[in-house]
Order: sequence, then C-alpha cells, then structure tokens
Amino acid sequence: IQALHIVACGTSYHAGLVAKYWIESLAQIPVSVEVASEYRYREPAIGPNTALVCISQSGETADTLAALRYAKERAPGYVTTIAICNMPGATLVREADLRLLTNAGVEVGVASTKAFTTQLAVLYWLAVVLAKNHGRLSQEDEQAAVDRMHRLPQVVEQATSQAEGIEKLSFDLVDKAHCLFLGRGVHFPVALEGALKLKEISYIHAEAYPAGELKHGPLALVDEDMPVITVAPDDHLLEKLKSNLQEVAARGGELINVVADHVHLDETDVKHSVKVAGLEGALSPIVASIPLQLLAYYVALHKGTDVDRPRNLAKSVTVE
Ligand code: M6R
Repeated sequence: IQALHIVACGTSYHAGLVAKYWIESLAQIPVSVEVASEYRYREPAIGPNTALVCISQSGETADTLAALRYAKERAPGYVTTIAICNMPGATLVREADLRLLTNAGVEVGVASTKAFTTQLAVLYWLAVVLAKNHGRLSQEDEQAAVDRMHRLPQVVEQATSQAEGIEKLSFDLVDKAHCLFLGRGVHFPVALEGALKLKEISYIHAEAYPAGELKHGPLALVDEDMPVITVAPDDHLLEKLKSNLQEVAARGGELINVVADHVHLDETDVKHSVKVAGLEGALSPIVASIPLQLLAYYVALHKGTDVDRPRNLAKSVTVE
C-alpha cells in the first residue's frame, strides 16, 4: 500500500484525522481523510496501490456505506477496502474486502465515546503494522508500541479517576452559550471531538481550532464570556501552545485546561485546570479524549439535558 484514503462521518471522521498523524509519521504513507458525505459526490483521484479505509461505529451510516459502494465502482480502483467497525454483522463489514473490529461492546448512548477510543486503538495498530511492513519500525520500537498498548487500560483508568476534578470544571460551562476548543498537532482532532461531544449532549455551541489558527480569526471571539478549552500534552508543541494560551488570557478569555500531570502552566493565564497522567507519547490522543468526554457528560448532567438521547439525533444515521 502506497497511500490510504480514510472516509467516515462525525466522531469516526475525527478518529481518521488522528490516524493520519500516526500513519504518516510512523509509516511515512500519505493519508487523506474526508467526510463521507463529501467524498461520495466528487471524483477523487486514486493513485496506484491505494487502500480505502471506512470507519464507522455502526457500519450502517448511509453516507459511509454509499462512499464504500461508490469507491468500489471507480476505475482504476483501490487495491483493497477496509472497514473499521464495532458491529460484526454490519453491512459495511460485509461489503468491505477486509475488516477490523473494535469490539467495544454495544454503545447505548447516541454520543460515541468508547467506540471512538477503540477506533483509535485499532488505528494505532494499523499504523504500527503499516510501519513494520514498510520496514520503518525497528524491533525495539515495535516492542515499545506493544508495551504502550498494554499499559493503556491502566492509564485510561487513571484519566477516568480525575472525574471529580472534571466535574468541578464543568460548572464553568453550564451557563455558557459558546465555547472554543484548541489543540495542536495530533491533539487538534481531539479538540474537534471534544467540541462535538459538548455540542451534541449539552447543546452549547462549541468550535474547535488548531491553536496556531487563533490569530487568523477566532481570537476576535475571545472575551470574558468565551471559555477556551485546551489540551496541553507534554509534547514538542507545548511551548507553542503556551504562547497561544497567553494570547487568550491577554484578551480575558477563561481558560480551562486538561494538562499533562508534570507540565507547569502559568497560573495567571489558566483559570482552571485538571492534571491527567499519560498525556505524552503516541497514545496521548486516546487518553486526552477521556477528560473531554467526561467534561461534556458533566456539563450535560448539570444542565439537565439528556446525555444518552440528545434531541434531533439518532445513534445510527441510516438515511442521507
Ligand atoms: O456509526 P458511525 O460511526 O458511522 O456514525 C458516524 C456519526 O454519525 C457519529 O460518530 C456521530 O457523529 C456521533 N453521534 C458522535 O458522537
């Protein structure tokens, strides 16, 4: 495989965006990620040895299924099509050439949560396998990836144990009408997902931006009524992110941070923060998603909206 096209909707699309960072950096294979409702109505250029990956919790999403069928009809086509899905008997699983099941168990709530984190886990493995097959992963690096994955349940457990602190942060958002999520690098799609979770179950208008884009527009929105939620992992972009936080603080924006446990942020900038272990290394996006899911959950709970069945939404979008 020389290239991957990833197609999905909603949260599954965000998982695809995270995968792009992983696959391109580990395997050096170009990856494009697109929402299925756009892909199915355009004429994508398919290069040689390109695989299509369709990600869907339900495997019944109309646009994702239509994208798979459309892709299969195109010539010259894909070398293979892969479904990443949580439902073993789903149409997507039956119609794709290959399948990777996330095995998260039935997800009751409309908001995708464990489906998202397990999609990320599967996509990380895909990145590792592709890197190995392309001769880009030493045996030590492969072992390190396996060890990292084995430790993940414990790290996720630690993140969920921060629920009390996250619930306290949630009170800052309950009465707000809007909020902004910021992330950099592989944590930008995590910010997108955090914003989607919040708007979906609490009906607060939330937008996510790559933090480096602040000055290109969204900074105009920042004032004391605009909470800005950021994930501050311990990575090579931390210093860049810190200066973005200062830009927000200087405009009176209320900063709420999910921060790596050993990272120090200037307290004059950050109003509220919760420290989380495991926000470093390759799997940080999986861990970072948990506090944002919990934040959306507590905001919805305290607003009194229906956490499991948000208005106007269905678990599986089987019509266009
Ligand atoms: O079943 P799918 O993963 O294909 O569903 C795609 C989206 O409809 C879904 O992720 C939606 O965005 C969620 N409700 C988000 O929580």
